[in-house]
Amino acid sequence: MSEPRTVRIAPSILTADFGRLAEAVRAADDGGADLFHLDVMDGHFVPELTFGPLIVGAVRKATRLPIEVHLMVARPREQFAPLAEAGAQTLLFHVEATDDPAALLAEARAQGCAAGLAISPETPADAVRSLLPSLDEVIVMLVHPGRGGQQMLSEHLEKVRQLRGWIDEGGFDVALEVDGGVKTHNAASCVEAGVDIIVAGSAVYNDRETPQRSLAALRGAISVAQAP
Ligand code: DX5
Ligand code: ZN
Repeated sequence: MSEPRTVRIAPSILTADFGRLAEAVRAADDGGADLFHLDVMDGHFVPELTFGPLIVGAVRKATRLPIEVHLMVARPREQFAPLAEAGAQTLLFHVEATDDPAALLAEARAQGCAAGLAISPETPADAVRSLLPSLDEVIVMLVHPGRGGQQMLSEHLEKVRQLRGWIDEGGFDVALEVDGGVKTHNAASCVEAGVDIIVAGSAVYNDRETPQRSLAALRGAISVAQAP
């Protein structure tokens, strides 16, 4: 079993009420979120279309927590500068969206941001292995990118275990994140697989509970998994 690590929670606002976005962001901030995970989709890389720098800027005004942007777009390079200007600290794009991830990582860093890669369910962990020394973060997608509120495809936690092993063996400074379908009942399995950051969308923003209470429940589930 992997040694206990401090697992961070990154709420994704996709299922929040965008009419009350600042309130939703402040609620998660109050509830102990560690950072925000904002999902930019372009209607090409994925069929869905979400938002861009305008909303990133609105979130930036509502919280002082770090913001990472998960770009589900076919042409990530064009978005880097406007997203960085809007207040993103970390830019994460899909390895499936480019033939030259190393060049794009350098371009994201040139904007003063940390940089990382996401892998979709059909992509093996091997696709990012050789790039680990030059990454700040890797996202293992546990759903097909596009929508919040989907069921976790938990077989892909195997990739988290593989990446955890490679990161630890190499001594790389890479944050390992899971995205998609994380709930209180399965958060512990993500921690056991070795994640550093858990994205939580509909587990935080839903019709049943306040973000504060949902985050407390998630934190509880994580700390049970971390208990010695
Ligand atoms: C899906 C997005 C996720 C999504 C997660 O394509 O990348 O960040 O918002 O939402 P939940 O936690 O509801 O699966
Ligand atoms: Zn995401």
